[in-house]
Amino acid sequence: MQESFVRMYQYRLPFLQGELAHLPKPLTLADLMPLDHYHYCGTAAIDYAIARLGLSQQSHVLDIGSGVGGTARYLAWKLGCAVTGLELQSQLCQMAVELTERTGLSKQVKFIQGDILQGLPRQFDAWLSLLVFLHIPDRQTLFSQCAAVLKPAGNFYIEDYVQIQPLTSEEIQTLEQVVACPGLPTITTYQQHLEQAGFGQITCENVTPLWRDWVQQRLIQFQRKQDYYRQKHGDELVQSYLDFYQAVADLFTGGNVGGVRIWGRLLP
Ligand SMILES: C[S@@+](CC[C@H](N)C(=O)[O-])C[C@H]1O[C@@H](n2cnc3c(N)ncnc32)[C@H](O)[C@@H]1O
Repeated sequence: MQESFVRMYQYRLPFLQGELAHLPKPLTLADLMPLDHYHYCGTAAIDYAIARLGLSQQSHVLDIGSGVGGTARYLAWKLGCAVTGLELQSQLCQMAVELTERTGLSKQVKFIQGDILQGLPRQFDAWLSLLVFLHIPDRQTLFSQCAAVLKPAGNFYIEDYVQIQPLTSEEIQTLEQVVACPGLPTITTYQQHLEQAGFGQITCENVTPLWRDWVQQRLIQFQRKQDYYRQKHGDELVQSYLDFYQAVADLFTGGNVGGVRIWGRLLP
C-alpha cells in the first residue's frame, strides 16, 4: 500500500473508537452518522444513488470500497436488500463487521476484505462506489473487474473526483500525498474508460459546486468543535483531521478539482 494511502486512513479508526466509547453497545444508524460515512453529503448521497440504481428489496448490491460500512448498512436498512461490502483495509473491514453486528443488520450485510482489482464472482444486480476509485489508477483492470461482478444489464453508480481544468503542480502533489490520488481523469475520459469496459447508457453529473460547499462546511464544523475534540482525542489526531479537511477544501476551492456522479448499466 502507498505510504500516503496508509497515512490518509490511519487516524480514522482511533477517532471512531474514541467516539464509540461514549455510545451504547447496541447502536442505531443515527448514532453512527456521520462517523461511518467517508463520502460527501451523507445519506442524501446514498438516497440519490438508490434512485438511480433502481434497487428493490430483492436486489443484491455490492458496495466497492465500503470503508467502515456506513453506506452498506444504510442501503440494507432503507431497502431491506442484501448488501456486500468489499474493503481493501482489514482493520476497516473488521470495524464494519463489528458495527453491523451492533446495529443488528448482520443477516443482510456482509463484508469481504479484498481488492476490487482481484475481482469477485458475477453475482450482483448492482454496484456502487463512493469516493474510492480516485485511489486506483489502473482504470482498465478496475472497470473490467467492475463489469465482471454484475449480472446481465446490472446497474452501477459512482461518486468520484475528476479534473475540471488542468491541475497545478501543487495540486498534483496534494492529491498524491494527502489524498492518495495519483491522477485524475476528466469527466469525458472517465466515461470513455467505462464504455471501453462494456458499460453504457451512462449519465455524468458534475457536482463540483455541491462538493465545494460541503467540504468547506465540513472543515468549518470540525474547526468549531476542535477544542472538544482535542480534549477527547488529543492534539495530534485532531491536527491530522484539520490538515486533511483543509487540504481537500483548498483543492475544491481552487476550481481545478471537481466531483462527479456517474451512473449507467452493463450493456448486453
Ligand atoms: C474515502 S473511503 C470511502 C469509503 C466508503 N465508500 C464510504 O463512502 O464511506 C475509500 C475506501 O476505499 C477503499 N479502497 C481503496 N482501494 C480499494 C480497492 N482496490 N479495493 C477495495 N477497496 C478499496 C479504502 O480502503 C477506503 O476504505
